[in-house]
Order: sequence, then structure tokens, then C-alpha cells
Amino acid sequence: MLLFVISFAALVCTIAARPPLGYLENQFTAESGEVRSAAIKRLLEVFGMDDPPAMHGHKQPPQYMLDLYNTVADVDGVTKDPYLLEGNTVRSFFDKLRSEQVEFRFNLSTVARTEKILTAELHLFKLRPQATLTFNRHHFCQVSVYQLLDISKNNNTQEKKLLSSRLIPVHSTGWEVFTITQAVRSWMSDERSNLGLHVVVQTLGGSQMDLKLIRFASGRNHHQSKQPMLVLFTDDGSRSTTLENTDPNDTEVSSDLPSPPMSGPPPRIARSLDYSEEDGASSPCQRQPLYVDFEEIGWSGWIVSPRGYNAYHCKGSCPFPLGQNMRPTNHATVQSIINALKLIKGIDTPCCVPDKLFSINLLYFDDAENVVLKQYNDMVAGSCGCH
Ligand SMILES: *[C@@H]1O[C@H](CO)[C@@H](O)[C@H](O)[C@H]1NC(C)=O
Ligand SMILES: *[C@@H]1O[C@H](CO)[C@@H](O)[C@H](O)[C@H]1NC(C)=O
Ligand SMILES: *[C@@H]1O[C@H](CO)[C@@H](O)[C@H](O)[C@H]1NC(C)=O
Repeated sequence: MLLFVISFAALVCTIAARPPLGYLENQFTAESGEVRSAAIKRLLEVFGMDDPPAMHGHKQPPQYMLDLYNTVADVDGVTKDPYLLEGNTVRSFFDKLRSEQVEFRFNLSTVARTEKILTAELHLFKLRPQATLTFNRHHFCQVSVYQLLDISKNNNTQEKKLLSSRLIPVHSTGWEVFTITQAVRSWMSDERSNLGLHVVVQTLGGSQMDLKLIRFASGRNHHQSKQPMLVLFTDDGSRSTTLENTDPNDTEVSSDLPSPPMSGPPPRIARSLDYSEEDGASSPCQRQPLYVDFEEIGWSGWIVSPRGYNAYHCKGSCPFPLGQNMRPTNHATVQSIINALKLIKGIDTPCCVPDKLFSINLLYFDDAENVVLKQYNDMVAGSCGCH
């Protein structure tokens, strides 16, 4: 992905230094069909996909995933705090068994083998006890989640293994979360071992509890918003970047503020770069909007949020002398001096490129119509500099 951004940045610089942008746009409409599909395929690759997920009808994403998205991302999808999530992917799955019993099974076939399982949680919605049973001597119950095992394999002597157990107030209502990471790891290493989960509710004395008293919503009988859900926190190993900002205070430096104009008359060298571009290669290097509209691309069916995002782009000239507001590298400073002195032929002025990049978050439906939240590095130019 970094490669993509770098090549993109290089492209922008090449365009700024040579023919005006309109040239590319014209070419684009001329061969539109082919170029468009090739470009969109490449864009899909940036988002880690081969084909756009197919959606069948309108589906409501789980509230948990919407809340999670709003916690980690701002309105444009930009990551608020890169350390909020341990990995870069969160996947949600609905129970496939839809059993009357408190048994659940989740189809994890969309999780890539290469994804590192960090944490897995079973989310169950506890319903209010049925009214006739509210006057009960029990105040707490013991809720235990078991992984179902295949006795015929691996010399298993038990048919289930305890994953998580907790005391829960009998009269409570709302989401209960159990950690089941070990089970999911074993399912990932052997898909056929996934026989599902079983939940057992007991009194404090260890006897079976009346299941009319302790009820969890099932996919079969209750509203979709209360469906049992597995939430999987993973990392696909793509999180690594040199430019990603880690200091939120540092973002303002040259991001939104246009660079102040050069003092004194514009150097001759800048004018020589001023091709026929109307909005001026002569204006100094600065960050400008570049809105990527998912609806326009035709992705609004499977992307829940954001509707699009501002990737920004870097535009403008990097003439001699490069001020500190241009955030030049030493290399760029020397290059601009060589260019200004015309010591060597064919040395351009430095390029106006992103020197800080932010990640964005996408909340989307995958191939199996599970809702996924994924962070993509280096998607938004945070600031620009002459490099
Ligand atoms: C199962 O037990 C047999 C002997 O009882 C042993 O040879 C075999 O290695 C065991 N298999 C596993 C997977 O533990
Ligand atoms: C950001 O700035 C605030 C006040 O200006 C300061 O208290 C805080 O420590 C800074 N944070 C970082 C990460 O530098
Ligand atoms: C899991 O879902 C995939 C398609 O998403 C399907 O091909 C596969 O058969 C399912 N597995 C089970 C055990 O239902």
C-alpha cells in the first residue's frame, strides 16, 4: 500500500512538472471502459480484495460494529487514535445454528489463514426473566461457555471444554461478552473441529437453572439487533509504516494552513515551471482536497461507512529557496539549490509530496455478508512537503 501511495505521489509530481492534468483526464474518457475497470480493480487491491463483495438486498450492520467504527474513526473514516485497536481488523459473525438450545456455531471461512487471531468474543444478549418468574430466590447465576469437541478425535475424553465462566445477575438485561479466543484459534487451525459452542447456566450451588429464568436472545426467535454474535479481533500484518503519524499534536504544522507566499519577487526558476496549468504550478507546495467518493466508484452497496473520504493531494511548486514551511529534507534543499544554480542539466525542483499519511477505517460487508471493520494505512495525506 505504501508502494501505491509512493507511486501515486510520484505520478502527481510527474504531472505537475510536465503536461497539465487535463491530458490524463482526456485519455481516461477515451479508453474509459478498460481503464476504469483496471483502475477499480487496482483500487480494490489497495483495500485487500480481489472482487467487490456481492450483496443480496439491504442488511442492517450490527450496532456493536457501528459503535466500534464511530469510536475508532472520525466522520471521514480517518483513524482517531492508531493505538485504540490492537490489530487492524475486526470481524463480526452471526450464529448459523439458530438453535432453540443455547448452542451456537459461526462460519469463519472468510477469515484469511494469514490473519493473526488476537481476541475472540461471544456476544450474547440477555433477556429479562419472564414476568411470572421474577420473584425468585436466586440473585446470581453462573454462566459458562463451552467449546464442543469431537470425542472420536485426538483422544478427547470430554465432549466439551470450558472457555469462560462468570456470575451474572439474574435480573440483568443487555449484552454479555465472553472471551473464547482459544476455541477460535483451534477452529482456525482445523476448520472441521468447529462444532460450535454450548452455554450452560447454573445456580450458585451448581444445579441446572430454569431456562425460563435465564434467557439469551437467539437468532431464531428474537430481533436481529439482539442476535448472538462472534466478534473477532485480528491483524493481517499489514500495519507497518514509516510516515504514519503518532503524535496528534504534530498534525497541524502545515496541513490545513496554506503555506505563506514567498517573500520577495518570485524566483525566475518558478516561472519556468509554470506551464499552462490554470490553477498554477507557481503556487507553493500545499495540501489540497481530493475526495474519493465510494458511491461514484460503485461501492456504496457493500461499504457501510464512510460514504467517501478526503485523501487530499499535494500540489504546488518547490522553488528555490525552500522555506521551513515546505518541510524540505536536506536532500530536497540541495536539489533545489543545484536546480537554481543550473549547475547540472536536467535536475528538476524537488517534488511536492505527502510527508505524513494517516490511516482510514472501512466498515463493510464481506463476501459472506459479515460486517468487517478494517484499517488501511497510508490512505490520507496529512501534510505535504518538498522532497
Ligand atoms: C491417542 O492415543 C494413542 C494411544 O492411546 C496415541 O498413540 C496417539 O498418539 C494419541 N493421539 C493423539 C492425537 O494424542
Ligand atoms: C500535545 O499538546 C498538549 C498541549 O499542547 C500536551 O499537553 C501534550 O502532552 C501533547 N501531546 C503529545 C503526544 O506531545
Ligand atoms: C461457510 O460459508 C462458506 C461460504 O461463505 C460455505 O462455502 C461453507 O460451506 C460454509 N461452511 C459451513 C460449515 O457451513
